[in-house]
Amino acid sequence: MPWPIGEDRGGGKRVAQSADRNKAPILEVLRRVLPASGLVLEIASGTGQHVTWFARALPALEWQPSDMDPELRRSVECWLHDEGLPNVRAPIALDVHDHPWPVAHADAIVCINMIHVAPWETTPALFEGARRIGASLVFLYGPFRRFGGHTSPSNEQFDASLKANDPTWGVRDLEAVEQVAAANGFELSEVVPMPANNFSVVFRASASTRR
Ligand SMILES: C[S@@+](CC[C@H](N)C(=O)[O-])C[C@H]1O[C@@H](n2cnc3c(N)ncnc32)[C@H](O)[C@@H]1O
Repeated sequence: MPWPIGEDRGGGKRVAQSADRNKAPILEVLRRVLPASGLVLEIASGTGQHVTWFARALPALEWQPSDMDPELRRSVECWLHDEGLPNVRAPIALDVHDHPWPVAHADAIVCINMIHVAPWETTPALFEGARRIGASLVFLYGPFRRFGGHTSPSNEQFDASLKANDPTWGVRDLEAVEQVAAANGFELSEVVPMPANNFSVVFRASASTRR
């Protein structure tokens, strides 16, 4: 794990305080923008706190958690074991760069706090994968630069700490993400300001690319 994600609470079950803080506000956006039914693929599930929280609140949706990191997939398995939710599949290994993805189709993709904790190339890989599996919605959450600058001093400090850890990481320009999304047939639909200077960003497949 190149960046510590939560604390191990025993048996591999990890808990991240950030996920506990942001899961409820994120759910309120998801509740509004996700389709009423269908399969939601979560990219970079991390500890598994998010997917279990969302799946419990939105039982008409089926959820597919994933992560490239085996320690995190183990944590997701622990959360699923403890929560016993019928609408969540077992976590799968998914690195966005490895096309084709091990999921033939998903109706929506949820990706929280990933694209700034990874090289820029993961963003085009994410949208390419979303296009290939015919997703009609991509939901991103995290800090973003907007209109050429940081949206807060704390995000600027966070960006510096990310780059100190790995120079290929960093808070992304929303306009650059929007261009990559458009190149893959996704239009920016909504930007929702969230607590702690984060944003929920919703992209929808444009009419010409919709399955
Ligand atoms: C900061 S954590 C966020 C985890 C979780 N979504 C959350 O908000 O608590 C970053 C995540 O991105 C994942 N990640 C990094 N590069 C990736 C890639 N190329 N493909 C898929 N996941 C990746 C990591 O394994 C990790 O789960």
